[in-house]
Amino acid sequence: MRKVMMMTIMAALTGWTVAATIENDFLLQTKNTTMAFHKSGDTWLMVHYGSKIDKADDVNALAWNGWVGGNFFGHRKPATYSVYGSDNDRSTMNKFGGLAVIHADGVTSTELVATGAKTEEDKPGVTHLVLELKDSVYPFFVTQHFRAVEASDVVETWVEIRHDESAPVKLMRMDSVALVFPLLAKEYYLLSLTGQWASEGQLAEAPVALGQTVSMTSRSGVRSAFGDNPSFMLSVGEKATETAGRVIGAALAWSGAWNIAVQHDYVDALAINLGPDTGNGAYTLDAGKKLTTPKTALTYSASGKGQISRNLHRWARDHQLRDGHMLRPVLLNSWEGAYFDFNEKTLTDMMDGVKELGGEMFVVDDGWFAKGKYARDDDKRGLGDWVLNDKKLPKGLGALADEAKTRGLKFGIWVEPEMANTTSELVDAHPDWVLREKTRPLRQGRGGTQVVLDMTNPALRDNIYGQMDAMVTSIPGLAYIKWDANADFMNAGSTYLGADRQPNLWFDYTTGLYDLLGRLHAKYPDIIMKACSSGGGHMDYGFLRYADEFWTSDNTDARQRVFIQWGAGHFYPACAMAAHVTVSPNEQTHRTTPLKFRFDVAMSGRLGFELHPKKMAAEEISFAKKAVADYKRLRPVIQQGDLYRLVSPWEQNYASLMYVNDDKSKAVVFLYGLNRGIMSDYPAPLMVQGLDAGKRYRVTEINKEKRDHSRIGGQTLGGAALMSMGVPVKLVGDYDSAVFELVAE
Ligand code: GLA
Repeated sequence: MRKVMMMTIMAALTGWTVAATIENDFLLQTKNTTMAFHKSGDTWLMVHYGSKIDKADDVNALAWNGWVGGNFFGHRKPATYSVYGSDNDRSTMNKFGGLAVIHADGVTSTELVATGAKTEEDKPGVTHLVLELKDSVYPFFVTQHFRAVEASDVVETWVEIRHDESAPVKLMRMDSVALVFPLLAKEYYLLSLTGQWASEGQLAEAPVALGQTVSMTSRSGVRSAFGDNPSFMLSVGEKATETAGRVIGAALAWSGAWNIAVQHDYVDALAINLGPDTGNGAYTLDAGKKLTTPKTALTYSASGKGQISRNLHRWARDHQLRDGHMLRPVLLNSWEGAYFDFNEKTLTDMMDGVKELGGEMFVVDDGWFAKGKYARDDDKRGLGDWVLNDKKLPKGLGALADEAKTRGLKFGIWVEPEMANTTSELVDAHPDWVLREKTRPLRQGRGGTQVVLDMTNPALRDNIYGQMDAMVTSIPGLAYIKWDANADFMNAGSTYLGADRQPNLWFDYTTGLYDLLGRLHAKYPDIIMKACSSGGGHMDYGFLRYADEFWTSDNTDARQRVFIQWGAGHFYPACAMAAHVTVSPNEQTHRTTPLKFRFDVAMSGRLGFELHPKKMAAEEISFAKKAVADYKRLRPVIQQGDLYRLVSPWEQNYASLMYVNDDKSKAVVFLYGLNRGIMSDYPAPLMVQGLDAGKRYRVTEINKEKRDHSRIGGQTLGGAALMSMGVPVKLVGDYDSAVFELVAE
């Protein structure tokens, strides 16, 4: 015990990980939380996950000790990794659990015993706990990782599974997280994001009632964040608010199919499972091979949901996003401004336009590639052939990149490497590289011809890597790639995998994709990557390991973006949330909104454009130029600051959120009026948060047209007063909005 305490103290003092062996107790500490481990017999238990505790003895005295619970479910031990078959108490067998194995000899149970525990060297500020587990009978091994990130109160956790049995084993379930918490509270509320194309990020929240298991799942195979997003916030006890209540937050870093389940069993115990989904069968794991499950980021807040978001955002910027601290450029993406209908002049005109607005990058979207009969002039052909569409762009992409450079702009392009059209040279030459079921007609998606390529096949990956590499090399200075993926598994079969391995497709597709992304990342570390999948289908931390940002939604209607971005921001940070100003009436919803409203909404994320600037009126251009210049000044606070959600659009007919930088010297407050009721329905003062009570802030309204939206614009007021009395604001009519900059003096 003394040794453990010494280690904990040393780790706390130095902030460095101490590599050491662990015996019976371990407190995995972050700034404000403790995940406590205790060995009972030969099982590692997680005896606490919550607010910080310094003494293992205190935890053990208060934790589960076997007598809570009636029978059956209640006897489940809070094992760090709950598996099907493991010993519970009093001779019951755990038939749940996140790992379910059929061993080589047909036995279906697994009983993991602890064989070792240690902390490993890691980055400063990170404590990495490793638990070694082995089946009591079989040469079947699980290594469980818990990587605690001090500054953001996040614990990353995952497992590695391997075996030396005489034949392959079948993994029916292989979760990253399979935790059991006995009787923490009598109520649990689950918040998650749902939605589909053009409606991502919709909030859903409901109790997980006594006796219920609530599950979320994605079986797209590709668009992992459509339907449900692989993340949740769980209120433990009363339903948490933004600022109060106990909450466990989780996000599974996986871009393929997945399952999440929260079980509130009949003795009020709680089980949490997150992991990849294997479609309709078991994953076959060969002896000697190691399967690493995707990691899950867990976080805990004793003060509501807002803190869960801030923890995940900080962790993402510090540890998960590709370049989380880089300030993202203001860019114009050609899609909504031109669709497939462009030539060199259209694009250079757009470059002139974005340059004039003060933008920093120009991105050519879909339509620049494939030749001859497969030239990409619509969505019916060409995917898979990553060569120049020389009919459309005879001078080539290198020349376009030069055009951008002469205007002081960076240059980017769109690709969709996981996909092909059956109308492509690629599929003509390699029909077996397409996901298909050998006896069934091929189902084809977008354009009537789109199919998914078999990422499990190394030959296909090499081909796509080669094509991408050649393309990047042909565009000197290429700075940005928008990686799109516009289909689900429509034909869940692989020619590459054997008949007995077809279910492996669901997992191996995604590891294959990561292999490809990893190779490209290693060769081109400086190219910014955007994750897109029919809009927000890759709003997941798996893809965001390889990407700097995601396309939040194809829905660019600013009113609907207030909701979509509100939802996305629960789990994903503003620096990664691409938000583009588009034309009005909006292309998707035909809604008309003021340009100011569209700017005010897009400026709360990574600002960009998706329009043809030449079609903007002179007064729109002058408004936009000023807004872009202001955004560049505010961008460090918005993209790198802490988010506070002040008023939910789901609860009021207006919404408000704000960002505060780390030293609390600067803040930006956004206010969005939606469809406003009667004139006298004034917004309440905005109860700003996160300021320094002792500092004085000068309040300036940004993007102001004629009217003031607050009577304190231009004044310098105390942080304490602003936080306790609120910022008085006024909105008039529908889609009126305001942005305030607060700067400490
Ligand atoms: C998807 C993306 C869009 C655009 C089109 C191009 O729908 O989400 O942003 O890139 O594909 O085909």
